[in-house]
Amino acid sequence: MPTYRKKNFPVSDVRRFLEPGPVVLVSSRWKARSNIMTMGWHMVMSEEPSLIGCFIWDQDHSFEMIRKSRECVINIPTVDLAPTVVKIGNTSGRDIDKFATFKLTALPAKKVGAPLIEECYANFECKLVDTSLIKKYSLFVLEVLKAHVAVAPKFPRTMHYRGHGLFMLSGPTVIRYRRLFKREILNA
Ligand SMILES: Cc1cc2nc3c(=O)[nH]c(=O)nc-3n(C[C@H](O)[C@H](O)[C@H](O)COP(=O)(O)O)c2cc1C
Repeated sequence: MPTYRKKNFPVSDVRRFLEPGPVVLVSSRWKARSNIMTMGWHMVMSEEPSLIGCFIWDQDHSFEMIRKSRECVINIPTVDLAPTVVKIGNTSGRDIDKFATFKLTALPAKKVGAPLIEECYANFECKLVDTSLIKKYSLFVLEVLKAHVAVAPKFPRTMHYRGHGLFMLSGPTVIRYRRLFKREILNA
């Protein structure tokens, strides 16, 4: 077992160790204009219904677009889009059309007005189902209504944000610990 010498650490930075999932691109549409934001802070809240909690800062243009339209699409980019992911996060839809500026293709979704980003390997169409935590925590509770996922690769190279401009890129997927799982946990 490893042992570690530890030091006091600022609590405001513990997020860097916890930020788990891939960085996503959230597309939205309101009053005939589409937009995209980069998002690292999201969490699974339930499987059925499929609920995702997303932190969307109230200064983001996307904040009002998603709050008013009550819809968006969570798109998952691979590392091939890394520079674009950062540039989308550095700019605001108030100033530019991000689909045109970053040469991304907007495809019509099936269940929401917000567009899918064709260049992403997965797209989840979402509706805003709970607004009660927005004012206090900027937390949007979204329900995934429809999911589009690439047939291959099964485990693409995704980007995971560690704060301070650092990304972890997803690595190998291993099966060797599966035999240690209790059956009921494995099915979850
Ligand atoms: C790697 C990365 C992760 C980000 N994560 C979030 C996030 O979780 N929530 C958020 O509100 N903004 C996040 N941002 C910042 C927004 O993407 C940024 O403010 C963006 O410009 C908002 O665009 P908009 O004004 O067009 O909505 C992130 C930016 C980057 C580069």
